[in-house]
Amino acid sequence: MLSLVAQSPSPVDTNVAVSIRDVSKWFGAFQVLENINLEVRVGERIVIAGPSGSGKSTMIRCLNGLERHQKGKILVNGTELSENRKKIDTVRKEVGMVFQHFNLFPHLTILENCTLAPMWVKNADRRQAEGIAAYFLEKVRIADQAHKYPGQLSGGQQQRVAIARALCMKPKVLLFDEPTSALDPEMVREVLDTMVSLAKDGMTMLCVTHEMGFARQVADRVIFMDGGQIIEENTPSEFFANPQHERAKAFLSQIIH
Ligand SMILES: Nc1ncnc2c1ncn2[C@@H]1O[C@H](COP(=O)(O)OP(=O)(O)OP(=O)(O)O)[C@@H](O)[C@H]1O
Ligand SMILES: [Mg+2]
Repeated sequence: MLSLVAQSPSPVDTNVAVSIRDVSKWFGAFQVLENINLEVRVGERIVIAGPSGSGKSTMIRCLNGLERHQKGKILVNGTELSENRKKIDTVRKEVGMVFQHFNLFPHLTILENCTLAPMWVKNADRRQAEGIAAYFLEKVRIADQAHKYPGQLSGGQQQRVAIARALCMKPKVLLFDEPTSALDPEMVREVLDTMVSLAKDGMTMLCVTHEMGFARQVADRVIFMDGGQIIEENTPSEFFANPQHERAKAFLSQIIH
């Protein structure tokens, strides 16, 4: 019998947010990523851990085109990250990133930091952009600081602004690169609480962090990297209770006392 349903030539799996297939990357002669394979489903929370220099930052920076891979395939929401500038721009609009050192613009107010990209990248008009910014600043509980400059805020507050700024672009995926490691200990909790609340809202998140309490609380999977490779991948409870590799055991013994 003839099918009346049109067949798509290459259906994109809309449940997959990020797909990394056999990705390798070199800085000159140094191989920083080696055959990375990772698939992240929509709504999944991934924690990436591993020793310094293992390639964690480089891997997540590849996901929004801040770094280019030389081998393999990366797809974000079905768009392949290649040399194609338009595709990189498409992915950047959909992937937010929060850095260790906040990277707010010091000469712009908190509100302006949050409205800049929606106005310039998404062509939102000012009123619309300010409405969205107010909403997300309220969400990270910092709306009352909207007219201050970053230098007038504490580190924890600045990091919550950075999260709000990322949210203003309505990203489909959020990347975090050690968002709490530059903070004084008493400010770590407020940033982690914000991240937990995003996780509860169903945000797809890839977080490089050594906050293992956070990993236990929200991660669906922990990825452990060493020497540019993913050498272990497990649920948090299994990873902490029963790490498989010697390097993962050694790493955990250093960070969990
Ligand atoms: N732009 C670059 N040029 C050359 N080498 C680089 C560059 N960026 C990173 N590297 C090297 O690549 C390796 C991985 O770096 P990366 O920053 O991804 O590690 P990481 O796991 O995030 O480490 P950390 O926990 O210290 O942040 C390191 O050996 C680093 O020196
Ligand atoms: Mg790093």
